[in-house]
Amino acid sequence: MKALEEKIRQEGQVLSGDVLKVDQFLNHQIDTDFLFSLGQEFAQLFQDEKITKILTVESSGIAPAVMTGLQLHVPVIFARKHQSLTLTDDLYEASVYSFTKQTKNQITVSRKYIDSEDRVLIIDDFLANGQAVFGLLDIAEQANIEVAGVGIVIEKSFQPGAAKIKEKGIHLESLARIKSLEGGKVEFMTD
Ligand code: G4P
Ligand code: NA
Ligand code: NA
Repeated sequence: MKALEEKIRQEGQVLSGDVLKVDQFLNHQIDTDFLFSLGQEFAQLFQDEKITKILTVESSGIAPAVMTGLQLHVPVIFARKHQSLTLTDDLYEASVYSFTKQTKNQITVSRKYIDSEDRVLIIDDFLANGQAVFGLLDIAEQANIEVAGVGIVIEKSFQPGAAKIKEKGIHLESLARIKSLEGGKVEFMTD
């Protein structure tokens, strides 16, 4: 998506360790009109997939997931990373390892909000090692529901997540695909 590449070039900042900071529109301040347009793009890409629900992980996945849910007219469920005082239902649980932070987190989704007939679309802000997506795929498998696809705002194609998802035959759509952040310069995939 050209507009997203442009936005990343203008507002993104490359930090050391191959990290792209996009706090100006996605990870801290949210550019609502711009994210609305990302939701439209995801909705179009997955329009034939008969999606009944969107699944993401808090916190940064929620904004793009909600924008997409608005367009597809389906609810959004975000997996929680922290234990909730009020959420005491039966839970699906998966463990997600963060290479960046070297920590292992449990993510949970209440069984109450997933039906066996659901066809879910997984949405997330970044795809790097793919741990978050694999945690959500694990939950979908436990719930015995179909995953119609995975939609990612920014894929770091030089990290292994995207290839691992495609290997499983899952329909993956990434709105921007970054080939390299070497030397502080953002280079996008061209194919
Ligand atoms: P992954 O395996 O899920 O792909 O992610 P990884 O463990 O490599 O990264 C851990 C966290 O860092 C994830 O967010 C992921 O989205 C985020 N991340 C990875 N690479 C980048 C990057 O280049 N820029 C930015 N801004 N974020 C990146 P999280 O901490 O789990 O989620 P959240 O609380 O921010 O939503
Ligand atoms: Na995320
Ligand atoms: Na993040």
